[in-house]
Amino acid sequence: MEKIEEEKEGGAAAAEEEEQVVNPWQVAAKDGGKIDYQKLIDKFGCKRLDDSFVQRVERLTSRPAHVFLRREVFFAHRDFNDILDLYERGDKFYLYTGRGPSSEALHLGHLIPFMFTKYLQDAFKVPLVIQLTDDEKVLWKSLTIEEGKRLARENAKDIIACGFDISKTFIFSDFNHVGGAFYENMVKVSKCVTLNQAFAIFGFTGEDHIGKVSFPPVQAVPSFPSSFPHLFSGKENLRCLIPCAIDQDPYFRMTRDVAPRIGEHKPSLIESTFFPALQGETGKMSASDPNSAIYVTDSAEDIKNKINKYAFSGGQDSIEKHRQLGANLEVDIPVKYLSFFLEGDNELEHIKKEYGAGRMLTGEVKQRLTQVLTELVERHRRARAAVTEEMVDAFMAIRPLPHMFD
Ligand code: TRP
Repeated sequence: MEKIEEEKEGGAAAAEEEEQVVNPWQVAAKDGGKIDYQKLIDKFGCKRLDDSFVQRVERLTSRPAHVFLRREVFFAHRDFNDILDLYERGDKFYLYTGRGPSSEALHLGHLIPFMFTKYLQDAFKVPLVIQLTDDEKVLWKSLTIEEGKRLARENAKDIIACGFDISKTFIFSDFNHVGGAFYENMVKVSKCVTLNQAFAIFGFTGEDHIGKVSFPPVQAVPSFPSSFPHLFSGKENLRCLIPCAIDQDPYFRMTRDVAPRIGEHKPSLIESTFFPALQGETGKMSASDPNSAIYVTDSAEDIKNKINKYAFSGGQDSIEKHRQLGANLEVDIPVKYLSFFLEGDNELEHIKKEYGAGRMLTGEVKQRLTQVLTELVERHRRARAAVTEEMVDAFMAIRPLPHMFD
């Protein structure tokens, strides 16, 4: 979920391809261009989340929609309308999301799905399961099992710092949790997917090791309530909503295909765009280049420097030209980042108007962005520092959640 426009290790090489490539391991725009999200919707067969959804969510939850919903960061869905229909009838559902713990420090892009999931949990008052796919990262990267498990726990702290309600949230690592009913569902799913289908859905080839081919059922089964008897025993009919970045869609296309054949409901999805690298939407956010992203561990000084030095500007190269022509907002990263993280709609509109007309300069926009991100990162740092080992144990304990629907 982390990645966008990020090099994904282990996928097939895509560089000189004509077409854009988006799968769980690789996200690459067509040569020099941006990701074409409409094309993704068409290719994957999901639907656009139009404005009527935003209004419906506001009405059903009696609160303003999250910025990520209002500004189409979450822009596509599968059967989200079914979730809203049942909620309107007074039924509940559960949320499922996850993270592949590949690095110690999370960057802002990693936080997006969790910030949004936290909002969904609060707005709909529903339980949430969070899968840490430490196994996935060991299979795809050069990471030892011990290191994978350690990163899962470290990442759990950042996730908890997003403010999840412990009475409604279960976090688990695959290495620690796979077994029992969860594993039984994995076996059922595996039996329904042929090797040829796996090749077609995920782009695996005969050269890939069989660990990769065997992984998708692990990510599929948290979509089924019967995988979590300690949470949902007697509630096997509960529907599942998965917030995720759209690169995860292949996993859930497979899951939705299999679900009815093993007597389960198809999970619904609500899917986000990718968070662009500082260097621009064509650039790749490379794990090996710390200057392509802002990390939750960056100091105020780091944030300021990165934005000033690296954030791709749509402004003109001389003040005279800028005053005359204005900024190109389409390619401007400071404006793009503000559209993710600046709460006020009026202020955002004002900045776009003034900057686009050349009355505001890049420096001013970058300064405002620095302020917004410094506050966000500072808030996250404080919240994470307050997360104890005992809290991690508590979120990850196998236990019933008697207040999960309150
Ligand atoms: N594969 C995802 C990643 O690498 C982690 C993940 C597991 C996930 N289950 C999920 C993401 C459900 C979104 C929704 O980050």
